[in-house]
This record gives sequence, structure tokens and C-alpha cells, in this order.
Amino acid sequence: LRILLTGRNGQVGWELARALPELGEAIATDRASLDLADYDAIRRTVRETKPQIIINSGAYTAVDKAESEPGAAASVNAGAPAVLAEEAKRLGAFLVHYSTDYVFDGEKAGPYGEEDPTNPLNVYGRTKRDGELSVMEAGCRHLILRTSWVYGPRGRNFLLAIVRKARSGEALRVVDDQLGAPTSSRAIALGTISAISSAIRNDYIGGLYHMSAVGSTTWYGFARSIVRATGLHVEVEPISSNDYPAPARRPRNSVLDNSKITRELDVHIPSWEEGMTEVLAQLGKD
Ligand SMILES: NC(=O)c1ccc[n+]([C@@H]2O[C@H](COP(=O)([O-])OP(=O)(O)OC[C@H]3O[C@@H](n4cnc5c(N)ncnc54)[C@H](OP(=O)(O)O)[C@@H]3O)[C@@H](O)[C@H]2O)c1
Repeated sequence: LRILLTGRNGQVGWELARALPELGEAIATDRASLDLADYDAIRRTVRETKPQIIINSGAYTAVDKAESEPGAAASVNAGAPAVLAEEAKRLGAFLVHYSTDYVFDGEKAGPYGEEDPTNPLNVYGRTKRDGELSVMEAGCRHLILRTSWVYGPRGRNFLLAIVRKARSGEALRVVDDQLGAPTSSRAIALGTISAISSAIRNDYIGGLYHMSAVGSTTWYGFARSIVRATGLHVEVEPISSNDYPAPARRPRNSVLDNSKITRELDVHIPSWEEGMTEVLAQLGKD
């Protein structure tokens, strides 16, 4: 199998680049070798490499910055997947694309299923929803995997920020009124490979799936668990979103129901606590 990967330096892309060889020959690209805002470059790369599978892990993920750069966010999160999907359709390739829990408004009381109506609260979420729609409308065989609160041993993420601050002895104030599932980049990469393998075995069945860690917590709960697990002694104070004003609004609840991907594609993502423990153990090793 020949697999074209975008965004290889991202949290998920980096783990994918390490794990993909078990699935096939990976052609891993980053911003320098394939700029997702350059649609001609996307077409050229797909036509030259002729992959059977395209995995699009590149994205504009700066949620707050997207509020002031909606055009840049849209070109990468909505325009690029549209072009990748058109090219996948032409070639008969299978497109794997990621989306986000931020397509929801957070008003639902329980976990969100794939059929629940979307209503993004911010520019990032709207551009990611547009990306989902373009992939679905292009008519290529595809998997859209919605995940949430991504972190890992490298990149810019919440876990690393908390560890850094806690090590410097800084007291932490963390929002306690947003509920979600922190999901490790490695769990996403392994889940993706497992999902692709099942899809191929079943004659490339595809569609939209939720794929996040089991369980849920708030950012405060996550921070407290990180601090406890690392044995650092710093205060963690729960605050409300109103006390931490940010340019982009976030959903109060964005927990995803993963039962469809488990049932149909036999994908199992460990609990967020297991993911956290694994990533903390990994720190400093790579
Ligand atoms: N991060 C989260 O909390 C989260 C939550 C839910 C869903 N997701 C989704 O999960 C997927 C993977 O996210 P992630 O956390 O791995 O993101 P990430 O760590 O921010 O990585 C994204 C990668 O995309 C690359 N990229 C951005 N613009 C590009 C462009 N114009 N051309 C080529 N590459 C470009 C970035 O390159 P540079 O390194 O050069 O900037 C980066 O390597 C995305 O679809 C994201 O929307 C993420």
C-alpha cells in the first residue's frame, strides 16, 4: 500500500509517520514539502505519488488565532480537504481526514453521537465542519475521524504546558466548566491504523466516526491529574471560562460517543487516564 501523509510534524502526523510503515509505504509530507494552502501543489503531489490511501493530519489548529485569521484557517481546514477529496475521487484512493469535537455547541447533556446536529461556536470549528462536508460531498471513499483535546509528548499542547508551569512552581488556574476527553496523539495514530485496516478488510467501508479517549474530565480535572501523576507540588485552582477570557468560545460539553467506531471498525481507544500516564512516561525519552 502507498500512503500519502500530510502534516507529518503535527502531534498526530508525527505519531502516524512512525507507525505507518506497519501498514505500507508512507510518503510523509510537511508544510515545506506540501503546503496545504497551495491547491496546485496538492494536486501535483497526489498525481505524482498515486497513493492508495491519503491521510490528512495537517490542519490549522490555533483555535484562538483562527478568530482573526478566518481565511487562513478556511484554506487549510476546508479548502485543502476539498481538493484532497477531489483528487482521491479521481484516483480511486481512500481519504482519511480528521475533524474535531468543536463542531458541536456543547449544549447537549450527554456524549455526542455522529448523528447529532453540528453547530460550531468558533471559526476553527466552522472551518473544520466545512472540511467534513467537502469530503462527504466529493464522493470519494473516506473516513472522517472526529477526535478531541489532542496532546502528546511533543508539539504545543495542554499537558506539556501544565508540566512546564508546574515544574517552575507556578500556581495554576484552570477552567473547570468545559467537559471533554483528552486524547493522546499516539492513541489517535494507532486507532487510525486499526480503523484503516478494518475498513480495507471490509471492502473500504467508510464514513464519519467519533474517535476519542474513553471517559471525560474538565481541563481542571486533567491538570490536577497531570500534577498528581508527576508528583509536583503546585496548587491547581478551578476557575470558570468567564475568568479566563479567550478570543474563541468553546463548548461546555464536547464529549464524543465512540460506540460506532468500536462496533463497526473494532477500534478501541484507551481511557484518557491511561493515555496521560503513557505520555508522561514518554516525556524526555524521544
Ligand atoms: N489539537 C487538538 O486539540 C485537536 C482536537 C480535535 C481535533 N483535532 C484535529 O486533529 C488533527 C490533527 O491535529 P494535531 O493536534 O496533530 O495538530 P497540530 O499538532 O497542530 O499539527 C498540525 C500540522 O499541520 C501542519 N500545517 C498547518 N498548516 C499547514 C499548511 N498550510 N500546509 C501544510 N501543513 C500545515 C502544521 O505544520 P507546522 O508544524 O509547520 O505548523 C502541523 O505540523 C487535525 O485535523 C485537527 O483539526 C485536533
